[in-house]
Amino acid sequence: MMQAFPGRRLKSTAILCSSMIVLFVFFHFCFDGAPSIRSISSFSSKLPTLSGEPLVVSHDGNGPSQDVKETLVALVSQKQRPISTLMTVTKISSRAPVPTNLEENHVSQPILSSTFSSTNAEPEATHAISNPLDSSGAIVAAVSLSTNLSWVHELQNPIWTLHRYDHDSPHPPPSTYFPVNKGNEAMMYLSYILNNYDALPTYSIFIHGHRTSWHQEGDIVELVNALRFRALDQEGYTPLRCDWYPSCPAEIRPLDRDAVVWGPGVWRHEVEVEIAEAWAVLFASEELPRTIASQCCAQFAVTRSAILRRPKAEYESMRDWLVNTSLSNDISGRVFEKLWAYIFTKEAVRCPPPGRCACDYFGMCGERKWMVPPEGLRKWDEE
Ligand SMILES: *[C@@H]1O[C@H](CO)[C@@H](O)[C@H](O)[C@H]1NC(C)=O
Ligand SMILES: *[C@@H]1O[C@H](CO)[C@@H](O)[C@H](O)[C@H]1NC(C)=O
Repeated sequence: MMQAFPGRRLKSTAILCSSMIVLFVFFHFCFDGAPSIRSISSFSSKLPTLSGEPLVVSHDGNGPSQDVKETLVALVSQKQRPISTLMTVTKISSRAPVPTNLEENHVSQPILSSTFSSTNAEPEATHAISNPLDSSGAIVAAVSLSTNLSWVHELQNPIWTLHRYDHDSPHPPPSTYFPVNKGNEAMMYLSYILNNYDALPTYSIFIHGHRTSWHQEGDIVELVNALRFRALDQEGYTPLRCDWYPSCPAEIRPLDRDAVVWGPGVWRHEVEVEIAEAWAVLFASEELPRTIASQCCAQFAVTRSAILRRPKAEYESMRDWLVNTSLSNDISGRVFEKLWAYIFTKEAVRCPPPGRCACDYFGMCGERKWMVPPEGLRKWDEE
């Protein structure tokens, strides 16, 4: 089970205080008349970080400031929503009148709902995302020398730094050292953790370098831009793919060997056997779970604190296992593919409902058809 975050109460208090400060500053501006509303957008980048996501208030300066004031009051007094969810990105535009009753007006959409929506959000809304002041991030790409990663420059948030691991590089630089090219991306991911363990960034996103792929929820640039830091802070680990196909909710049954398989199940059986075999070496003091499952495909975002839940020595022995193993890369790499979610969360079955995954982690909240597991497998709980 995921451990409760002891800092959560502290965090809500911090959020509340921060919001009050923001409101205070805001009212100060409104009523003292002095700096125009436009200046709010100029200081927006200096606003306090709220649970990892910044509150950004911008205004084009043409409308009455009263609208903005009323909107903020309405935002904060919305009882049914915790304050923190209001603090994602707040774009207040004076082009349309901002009503006090936000529930019933379409203008509330870009303010209160997702900042990422390919269809109905104002394009400015995504640009309003700025980096949480005290956070940093790594894009950890397990790629080959020929992989074109120029899309990294299109990421909006300046926190991201690329850590490029070319598996075919004859002389990887010390900063991206790995002992041997084995186990596909697993060797690169573990080497990144070991190379950076003592100075990890707040967030690390582990990827294969594809711009688009069925392995992930759409274009990687949009996905990273849309990533919800607040949700990631809470979860510790979020997959970059939300669909349950083909690995949730019960892909690996290492003791019973009775998994109901859907999808191609490439090397699945061999991997199941090897997970059982390697468990005691990889997770010495942890019991082999009956069921292991998580959203597919070895691409995910993880927080520093989730990585640090395990001591460095454990990652070292995981990598040693890879270095030592005589298994093929196809199998040894997949042993880790099935285990990443467990490694960072200690939850053996980590299958959030796909719709909630897409909405909570990426703000993709629209109606969508998801692949439904066949007869014999549990479907997600409808919420
Ligand atoms: C890499 O991809 C970008 C488009 O994303 C393209 O403009 C650029 O020419 C490519 N570079 C190489 C070396 O192929
Ligand atoms: C890897 O092999 C070395 C040398 O045979 C051995 O000392 C070490 O315990 C092995 N480590 C793992 C994790 O299998």
